Amino acid sequence: MARKLVFAVNGERFELAEVDPSTTLLEFLRTQTRFRGPKLGCGEGGCGACVVLLSTYHPVSEQVKEFSISSCLTLLCSINFCSVTTSEGLGNSEDGFHPIHQRFAGFHASQCGFCTPGMCMSLFSALTNADKTSRPEPPGGFSKITKTEAEKAIAGNLCRCTGYRPIVDVCKSFAADVDLEDLGLNTFWKKGNKDATVCRLPCHSHKRICTFPEFLKSEIKSSMDILDNFKNTGLPECQWYRPTSIEELYELLNSDAFLESHVKLVVGNTGSGVYKENDVYDKYIDLKGIPELSVIRRDSGGVSFGAAVTISMAIEVLKQKNESELHSDERLVFSKIADHMDKVATPFIRNMASLGGNLIMAQRSQFASDVATILLAAGSTICLQTASERLVLPLEEFLQRPPCDDRTVLISIHVPFSTSVMESSSGANGCIDSEPTKEADILFETYRAAPRPLGNAIAYVNSAFLAHVTSYNISGDLVIHNIHLAFGAYGSEHAVRARKVENFLVGKPVTACVLLGAIKLLKETIIPNEHTPHSRYRSSLAIAFLFKFFQPLLKDLSVPEKNVQMSVSSAAATIENSNGCISGFADDLPHKALNVKQLDQVNNPDLILSSEQTVEFCKDYHPVGDPIKKTGVELQASGEAIYVDDIPSPKNCLYGAFVNSTRPLAHIKGIKFKSTSSPQKAFTFIGADDIPKGGQNVGLSWIFGTESLFAHSLTECAGQPLGIVIAETQRQASMAAKQADVQYCTDNLEPPILSVEDAVRRSSFFKVPPFLCPQKVGDLSKGMAEADHKILSAEVKLGSQYYFYMETQTALAIPDEDNCILVYSSTQCPEMAQDTIAKCLGIPAHNVRVITRRVGGGFGGKGPRSVPVATACALAAFRLRRPVRMYLDRKTDMIMTGGRHPMHINYSVGFKSDGKITALHVDILVNAGITVDVSVIMPQNMVSALKKYNWGALSFDIRLCKTNFSTKSAMRGPGEVQGSFIAESVIEHVASFLSMDANSVRKKNLHTYDSLMLFYEGSAGDAPEYTLPAMIDGLASSASYFDRLEIIRHFNSCNKWRKRGISLVPVVYQVTLRPTPGKVSILTDGSIVVEVGGIEIGQGLWTKVKQMTAFALGQLWGDGSQNLLDRVRIIQADTLSLVQGGFTAGSTTSEASCEAVRLSCNVLVDRLKSLKQSLEDKIGSISWDTLIFQANMQSVNLSERTYWVPEDASISYLNFGAAISEVEVDVLTGATIILRTDLTYDCGQSLNPAVDLGQIEGAFVQGIGFFMCEEYLENSDGLVISDGTWTYKIPTIDTIPRQFNVKLWNSGHHEKRVLSSKASGEPPLVLACSIHSATREAIIAARMEFSSATGPDSSSSFQLEVPATMPVVKELCGLDNVEKYLENLVDPELVKRIGAATALEVRATGIPYVFAPCIAVCRDPRWGRCYESYSEDHNIVQQMTEIIPGLQGDVPAKYRKGVPYVSGKEKVAACAKHYVGDGGTHNGINENNTILNRAGLLSIHMPAYLNSIIKGVSTIMVSYSSWNGVKMHANRDLVTGYLKNTLRFRGFVISDWQGIDRITSSPGANYTYSVQAGISAGIDMVMVPYNYSEFINDLTSLVKKNVIPLSRIDDAVGRILRVKFTIGLFENPLADLSLVDQLGKKEHRDLAREAVRKSLVLLKNGKSTNDSFLPLPRKAAKILIAGSHANNLGYQCGGWTIEWQGDSGNITVGTTILDAVRSSIDPSTEVVYSENPDSNIVKGNDFSYAIVVVGEPPYTETAGDNLNLELPDPGPSIIQTVCGTIKCVVIIISGRPVVIEPYVPLVDALVAAWLPGSEGQGLTDVLFGDYGFTGKLSRTWFKSVDQLPMNVGDKHYDPLFPFGFGLTTKPTSGRSFSSNLRIVKHMKGSN
Ligand SMILES: Cc1cc2nc3c(=O)[nH]c(=O)nc-3n(C[C@H](O)[C@H](O)[C@H](O)COP(=O)(O)OP(=O)(O)OC[C@H]3O[C@@H](n4cnc5c(N)ncnc54)[C@H](O)[C@@H]3O)c2cc1C
Ligand code: FES
Ligand code: FES
Repeated sequence: MARKLVFAVNGERFELAEVDPSTTLLEFLRTQTRFRGPKLGCGEGGCGACVVLLSTYHPVSEQVKEFSISSCLTLLCSINFCSVTTSEGLGNSEDGFHPIHQRFAGFHASQCGFCTPGMCMSLFSALTNADKTSRPEPPGGFSKITKTEAEKAIAGNLCRCTGYRPIVDVCKSFAADVDLEDLGLNTFWKKGNKDATVCRLPCHSHKRICTFPEFLKSEIKSSMDILDNFKNTGLPECQWYRPTSIEELYELLNSDAFLESHVKLVVGNTGSGVYKENDVYDKYIDLKGIPELSVIRRDSGGVSFGAAVTISMAIEVLKQKNESELHSDERLVFSKIADHMDKVATPFIRNMASLGGNLIMAQRSQFASDVATILLAAGSTICLQTASERLVLPLEEFLQRPPCDDRTVLISIHVPFSTSVMESSSGANGCIDSEPTKEADILFETYRAAPRPLGNAIAYVNSAFLAHVTSYNISGDLVIHNIHLAFGAYGSEHAVRARKVENFLVGKPVTACVLLGAIKLLKETIIPNEHTPHSRYRSSLAIAFLFKFFQPLLKDLSVPEKNVQMSVSSAAATIENSNGCISGFADDLPHKALNVKQLDQVNNPDLILSSEQTVEFCKDYHPVGDPIKKTGVELQASGEAIYVDDIPSPKNCLYGAFVNSTRPLAHIKGIKFKSTSSPQKAFTFIGADDIPKGGQNVGLSWIFGTESLFAHSLTECAGQPLGIVIAETQRQASMAAKQADVQYCTDNLEPPILSVEDAVRRSSFFKVPPFLCPQKVGDLSKGMAEADHKILSAEVKLGSQYYFYMETQTALAIPDEDNCILVYSSTQCPEMAQDTIAKCLGIPAHNVRVITRRVGGGFGGKGPRSVPVATACALAAFRLRRPVRMYLDRKTDMIMTGGRHPMHINYSVGFKSDGKITALHVDILVNAGITVDVSVIMPQNMVSALKKYNWGALSFDIRLCKTNFSTKSAMRGPGEVQGSFIAESVIEHVASFLSMDANSVRKKNLHTYDSLMLFYEGSAGDAPEYTLPAMIDGLASSASYFDRLEIIRHFNSCNKWRKRGISLVPVVYQVTLRPTPGKVSILTDGSIVVEVGGIEIGQGLWTKVKQMTAFALGQLWGDGSQNLLDRVRIIQADTLSLVQGGFTAGSTTSEASCEAVRLSCNVLVDRLKSLKQSLEDKIGSISWDTLIFQANMQSVNLSERTYWVPEDASISYLNFGAAISEVEVDVLTGATIILRTDLTYDCGQSLNPAVDLGQIEGAFVQGIGFFMCEEYLENSDGLVISDGTWTYKIPTIDTIPRQFNVKLWNSGHHEKRVLSSKASGEPPLVLACSIHSATREAIIAARMEFSSATGPDSSSSFQLEVPATMPVVKELCGLDNVEKYLENLVDPELVKRIGAATALEVRATGIPYVFAPCIAVCRDPRWGRCYESYSEDHNIVQQMTEIIPGLQGDVPAKYRKGVPYVSGKEKVAACAKHYVGDGGTHNGINENNTILNRAGLLSIHMPAYLNSIIKGVSTIMVSYSSWNGVKMHANRDLVTGYLKNTLRFRGFVISDWQGIDRITSSPGANYTYSVQAGISAGIDMVMVPYNYSEFINDLTSLVKKNVIPLSRIDDAVGRILRVKFTIGLFENPLADLSLVDQLGKKEHRDLAREAVRKSLVLLKNGKSTNDSFLPLPRKAAKILIAGSHANNLGYQCGGWTIEWQGDSGNITVGTTILDAVRSSIDPSTEVVYSENPDSNIVKGNDFSYAIVVVGEPPYTETAGDNLNLELPDPGPSIIQTVCGTIKCVVIIISGRPVVIEPYVPLVDALVAAWLPGSEGQGLTDVLFGDYGFTGKLSRTWFKSVDQLPMNVGDKHYDPLFPFGFGLTTKPTSGRSFSSNLRIVKHMKGSN
């Protein structure tokens, strides 16, 4: 008996004997069943419109599994014995709607409704599975789902209308952990009232739906064999095979029937969404029947997954493993893998997609797989069956093999336990000898950067890192023992391990320096293949990920970057540290964060969206003004609403598919169809030659021109239709169209016009009719003359945007008698379609009936662009005399429909210094494409939007370029979006030019009512109607704009890698009303039918019209007693029923339709009024039904049609709104997260606030798409290559504002508006520009942060492209910011170079030894030696030990650790000092006691000694100080025990000067004891400056008496000799004269100068944020240089220079600061120097500014100890005298922080210059802007000394300037502006 395919759909049984095995479930459902809920949105798994629930049943366990799938990819044969549930199956109009449907309706979560059934099914699946869990029962009415899961439920479903917020509310309404009151506007309860309870919601009960019918269970059970095995062995008759073992599979494959066949192995078939195959397969083999491929096994080494295991199942198992008793390392790895897999595709894809399918695609077809990358890092192996053998291979090897053939089967994947992988292959060697003090740890992290954080987007790069590290508590370093670094998706053949980098890292400590080295190697590894888009960005991402992985582990990076966890919006910002405390700053990143925690929200978006809607209801015209739910919304949700493609195909229906040109301009020589392996059953081809006689080749005809339907002999753009292929099914037609082989020829043709510049060169323009030409405002030359500054010829470029309506273009044409034709079209302009079809067919218009019921999203794209589709369909039907339908596939739709107009803009603007703009001129070249379409309206729309600001004078030149691109048409806000963006660009440019805040420039140029009247003559309305200023103020206050601005500044100052920006953008949007018809008819039963010109495209037109009808007719009853709402039905548009329907566009169709209906109703009311009166007079009060019955009886005309023509005076009006958006940019990846948007929009008295709210939010989110994510790419022929869901990314749930607050501003009564309402459809879209502007602000902050690293480019002068995608944002933040940051931060090279220069200078004197470096960690600046210490943070001190290889040379790789090393004659022996803890003495007193426990001593003061020893330091000097009372010189435990024995130091230990004398409290009091104690402690060499004979005698005697053993002396001598030999002292005892030229060498001075400029720390710059004082201008009339340290080289140098305690004056060769200033400024600047100027000098001169240099006098140890740290006199008085009068920068010359707080407010800028030594020019380099300030405080700057000691990390840390603080400036010399914003001229006060 033939096997049949048996399954159920919504409980109905289907049995099919014959099925084409390539049939998808969606195709079957839509064409062979009555169910239309699943829609076709993309056909590639990317949109979710087709989602259904699939249920499987296990006859033994009796378990039903239910999960969502995309029916467009699922093959029908694969669902044998399964049950399918569509949205109709949940509920419907007959059986009652499901609570999900009802909640979609009540929360206003459906507009066009095309996405809604798929959304419902995704949500249903999530609820069903949550309810199956063992979680505790939720309160009644709720599901077990959590609100986070609920939000994620629809993460992969696209919606183009709603903006998602209400859909999220629906989802969350099922979660028990949600606060229902937080949910948005709905019909279930009133906002604010306390009645938001679950019982008001349609009740949720998961038991209501039976997803697997009993009959199917019985059938399955009855087909079980004797062993209780259920056999589902395929459908061989359908060429669908389902082997049950590998042997059976190969038997099949090797059988004769298969050898010749084109066979496809399938599991989930989701791969066909990736690779849209043209191939037709003869046979399919379903691998799911092979148990081996579906098994999941855990063994001692890891977990094995059969290759057919789905990604969802793998996630579930990995998460379960996570919960089990696994080792924590394994748990970590498994849970991270599961988390990453959760971002692969979407739930409905993951439920079908197999691991094996994914890996095969990665291996065979270079698929950018995530699975391969993460499993590669985890060290996975795979098991492979080829035709001849079974292999077990490392995944890496598998990926590297040649692509496997189609008969190789992947059997399983083994993911090993990480511990076994890491330990078995540990590569660490050459580590230091000391023992690790902490157990080894496993680190694992995965990363992906993709346009959508939650998935449904292929990553630009993905990566996963597995590391095995050990921590050492002495150095605090983590050492890498083994590491796997896997990268994928970056444009390589497959995922790779970065082996070179791994090898480099193994055995190394995790330091910034090592990381930098690794990054350099990584750059050589991660090189995307040629032609990979954004390849530089991708490489930079790989680096960013490595940095992210290591950053929390790097001690030296732990401080500057704060672990700041801010709540989503800065408005509610509290900055919480990891302890949950609330403070201005948070804790440092965990030092050794072994479980690397992701802090960035961008990669881990906290999806909990929140929102608030503020709506004022108006009851004046009830039910108009009520937020009633959308008409027919439940039908939309259940899938019963009929769209054009849902109309059942008439008998004999044929299907059409376009053949499109791929060339921009070419003769068409012919079209052939390639023969394929299987016949495509193409019926015929219809082209221009098929136009009937009398007809025309016209695809669009309207007042502004016509365009051809098909290219005839010449194609004029890529994407242009050449004809249609007709076939028996849509799939056949589409496949046949793909086989078209078009022969082109370009002989005698000019090159195509593929840019607007080409169009200008060739004068190729469309003419704009004079009545559509906008008017200039004011006098441009006058405005320019008034300007203080001008920016001339700045450029902006804007690209296109595709409509991405969920329902693509579609039509169904049915020929009728007598040359008539009926066309169902999804169009916004049926009348235009009717007219065009009539012309094309050569028949009168009355022969053409175009019907449109509802449109699955339009946004302008179903306007004129729908007409060619309807016409082509009509032509084919007319020609073939059979019904023809077309439903464009997404790609065809995208390549031929065009979209928003791209344009090039060039502007010149004049403005005052305060930001007031006086004149603007704009030249715009609009790319209109090949035909004119509606492009003629563009100039007017753009100018109208541009006028939103008062430019003083405005002029423009706008040209519509005719190019060889597809026709561009109107898209929501056509021209207005661009015009408004140009306006904002100008504002931002002016702001950045003036270094002003963009928002204050906006405010400055906002219209007054007078200027509004001038700019919008005739549309401005009366003064009270100008609500914008009040709205902006209200919004700024309700959104706490100014507070947040401050918080954001604060956030940005303590976060390096995340930057926030906020922006407030207004909109002024002019709309125009058009004449519109409306017809109201009352039927005998009192029901009312309404027809309007407008089309329901999701915007709620029918709902508003219904309300208006009910209101207008209800007026008959003054008391409102008759509720007519439910009596009204709006019916489809029919061009023969209601003529002059016009088109639906421009935001005003709803109100115009309402008005037309109102007028019709008024006529009817007039007709009925007297009858009603007379009836009431007779019988008392009557009902509507009675009245209508009587009216009929009395032959009253109960139908009225009105054609409403708006009056000239009220034909156009202005709409106002404003939005504040706040974003956060991940500087490492370029990802932007929209934290919050607050939007206020003036709807007048809204006709339906729920509908308007939906319009506002939906438009805004569509705007997010344009400004942020929708990248519209074309190839060099102009063919669109962003042609599907894979490449064109509209916003999804995870890319909308986390907090979205919308207020409908009710501006009250508007005399001339329809019931005082205003439009809402388009204007809010423009406001999404606020996100773009906020992103720009965040980027400015990032560029400021890295300006020192990114070079002299201005941080604010750049153009942020539209859309601001991740690559664009990252590029502007600096693709190499990580490297630059590390180089800048560590600059080990600089320290090393200083060491090398010092060595040369010292060697040149003949001395081979230096007492450097000082590696004391100064914890109290009162210590006089603090200036010698690099930092209070031992991490920095450790880094600075890099000076040792500079002094001594690099230790060779295999050199024994701990042994001194000096590399040659140009190097010197170094001395690390003073061992140990001398920076920690009590009160900072020199030679005092360090009171600290051992752990503290070892962790703070000891680490740098270990670094020094590793670097081969030759000697170590002992400190005078004591540790807990024990003199260090006598501390055997620390010197011998720790230094020599534990740390294995092999150089010699030297005492300090008279160090052993001071072992006794009175120096030398018991010298013999001192000698004994010191030498016994382990000192090898003793500094005895005077009485050395006493020392020799004492020591000799002590040795002779065996008090000191001879072995101690041998040890000392051995060490000393070792160092001497190392230095080469015996070979070269004398000075090397050849080095004499090294002394005071220029290069060394330059190096010193570089060190000076890099170490300067800018503490204040300007008295306010927007008013930077530095850099100083070189050119000024007169400047003052003052202060004790301005002209004193000795003071600059400090102690230990020439004299021990230093000295004053010209003690050495060098440049004083005064000299440096003199040589840096412009020669014309007069310099007045006065060391201590009196007020007469200060006041008596007109100084432009002053430089005050004050500080500490030189000192060294002991003398420098200072308990008050006050700025010595006359410093304070100089500051007061000078800075009180003149703008001044104060430079502090000191060895440490001093008391400065009292003077900070006085000064304009404050610089800590430390001790700049001889190189004063290092200061002026930065003061005058040759370089930027980059230095950061390496110690805390206290407020007052009583806070001391206070160090970073202390509990009560309250510094004046925190550790790590340092403002930056950008270099100004050679300042260049970005090429996009060319500033040709900058003039002040002149032309
Ligand atoms: C919309 C969408 C988004 C996606 N996003 C991502 C993403 O972000 N990251 C990511 O990594 N992946 C992504 N994917 C890819 C997805 O993971 C794969 O399509 C899926 O895993 C393939 O599994 P399948 O069972 O459907 O394979 P199928 O489509 O059935 O097969 C795919 C190919 O593999 C062959 N094959 C399958 N199994 C075997 C086997 N065991 N032995 C030999 N050959 C076999 C088939 O013959 C076919 O050639 C996405 C897919 C879609 C549709
Ligand atoms: S139609 Fe199936 S996912 Fe888009
Ligand atoms: S309502 Fe979601 S696409 Fe229209």
